[in-house]
Amino acid sequence: MKFIKICFTLILFVQISFAQEKKLAATPPMGWMSWNIMSENPNEKDIKEMADAMVNSGMVQAGYQYIFLDDCWQGGRDNKNNIIADPKKFPSGIKALADYLHSIGMKLGIYSDAAPLTCGGYTASLNFEDQDAKTFASWGIDYLKYDYCNAPEDVETAKKRYGTIAQALRKSGRDIVLGICEWGPREPWNWGAQAGGQSWRTTYDIRDKWLDVEGQGGVGIYNVVDKMAGLASFSGPGKWNDGDMLVAGLHGTKGPSSAFKGVGCSQAEYQSQMSLYSMLNSPLYASCDIRKMDNEAKTIFTNEEIIALNQDILGKQAERKIKTDICDVFVRPLANGDFAIAVLNKSASAQNAKINFTELGLSGHYQIRDLWQHKIIGKNKMWSGEVKTHETKVFRLKKV
Ligand code: GAL
Repeated sequence: MKFIKICFTLILFVQISFAQEKKLAATPPMGWMSWNIMSENPNEKDIKEMADAMVNSGMVQAGYQYIFLDDCWQGGRDNKNNIIADPKKFPSGIKALADYLHSIGMKLGIYSDAAPLTCGGYTASLNFEDQDAKTFASWGIDYLKYDYCNAPEDVETAKKRYGTIAQALRKSGRDIVLGICEWGPREPWNWGAQAGGQSWRTTYDIRDKWLDVEGQGGVGIYNVVDKMAGLASFSGPGKWNDGDMLVAGLHGTKGPSSAFKGVGCSQAEYQSQMSLYSMLNSPLYASCDIRKMDNEAKTIFTNEEIIALNQDILGKQAERKIKTDICDVFVRPLANGDFAIAVLNKSASAQNAKINFTELGLSGHYQIRDLWQHKIIGKNKMWSGEVKTHETKVFRLKKV
């Protein structure tokens, strides 16, 4: 009897832990990140304005729930070693900000680093993991981006440090999603989920450009897509390949995204990033000034048919089925039995494409819905048409 009771308790415990793990980032987190626009000066006034703009622009309704407060918010530690916010930047404190965001249907992400100091040189969490996690939980934090500046290069230390913060978050009494940000060199897709992270950046920081041709360090949209395309098998509910910020709306005007010749992208390129990051299940976080966002950026961010791919509960990252010098074609199954396909023209001029669905492993006829035109364009076993330079066509296929 006692044995049965122990077994039952164990099963219950496993089920509870499983349910807890399951609900953390069951679909990719979506929101807006402060790093590009505010860099050194995130502050409560601008962040609240940004949050209001996200509500008013329809972004929150479309699914962008998080404000990801990035580096440079910290003001050191108090006399009990509790991490504190810079009182000039956040005079009401982080808890008040989280309360405000929760009251308007949003969530708050925060940032720290697996070393004594962050990339920007601010107070970070090494050796204070439990204490900081408790502080974050007491503030009502929903997500932690955990960076890796000033930390040792080897992979074992990285696994350990991410594991330690993940444990601390789990013990904190609050569901806090952990975003690993070590930029890819230690291949976090191999160990990030096991360490307790829900996502991991796959590359160094994205810049506001299509392609890095000079190897200067900052990557472009297609560099990220190309990298993530090879990592489909590591992604799934609660464990996402993270492609870094969406750069639509920036137009080469501001912030770290403009470094390394991030001079801006065409509309087709911004649209491609949104399309492909959705196909590849990257977390989606805008980085332009939402208060002044142009209509094109708004249209890109709030395309709910594209977002539905990213947030599809099956959580199956697209696979790249075709890769030539000219085009890439991606395919993914969706929870309701439909498929999504994306056709990217990588060349410098418009191309006429012809895609037989059988080449993609999809036999038979399908109803084809164009997710940027928002209309059904036919029933067929193939699609042909023009794709502009660096544009991505995205179709939802329903078997007929
Ligand atoms: C980098 C990170 C960026 C940003 C920055 C802040 O390491 O990749 O996304 O968080 O640090 O200092």
